[in-house]
Amino acid sequence: MQKVEVELTCDEAATLTGDRQHLYAIFNNLILNAMDAMSALPKGEERPRRLRIRVSCSEFACEVDVEDSGVGMKSEEIARAFEPFYSTRPSKGTGLGLCTVRKYVSLYGGEAKFRSESGVGTTVRVVLQRGQSALA
Ligand SMILES: Nc1ncnc2c1ncn2[C@@H]1O[C@H](COP(=O)(O)OP(=O)(O)OP(=O)(O)O)[C@@H](O)[C@H]1O
Ligand SMILES: [Mg+2]
Repeated sequence: MQKVEVELTCDEAATLTGDRQHLYAIFNNLILNAMDAMSALPKGEERPRRLRIRVSCSEFACEVDVEDSGVGMKSEEIARAFEPFYSTRPSKGTGLGLCTVRKYVSLYGGEAKFRSESGVGTTVRVVLQRGQSALA
């Protein structure tokens, strides 16, 4: 079993109104991807497996960073990551996770962006507009 250090930082005033299924799909997919990326680190790799989630909200938007210390992504992988059925682990993944994230994030007038370095880790930043939920 691999140990993962989890750190959650959240604004006290962080609230977001949204559809449970949408918000679940967005954050479940991002967290599972982060865990997969850390599981894919070569055996014997000493660096700590670290998952950091930061939530901050302004009056108009909620910003969530999901950061991992996993295998990271090359620029060509980042360019294709949201493509339906694109997966670097085709025998396990459907490649539909991020496609679903992008679809649901768009319902909240938001965006999802990757910052990643191969061999170092990845941060996905999701910005959701608070006044523009799919329920509004
Ligand atoms: N945090 C991450 N670190 C490294 N690579 C990532 C990360 N998140 C996504 N990727 C890359 O983007 C690809 C597409 O991700 P996506 O979630 O759409 O599919 P998947 O995870 O492969 O399959 P599924 O979501 O069905 O399990 C992944 O196969 C992986 O190569
Ligand atoms: Mg996935």
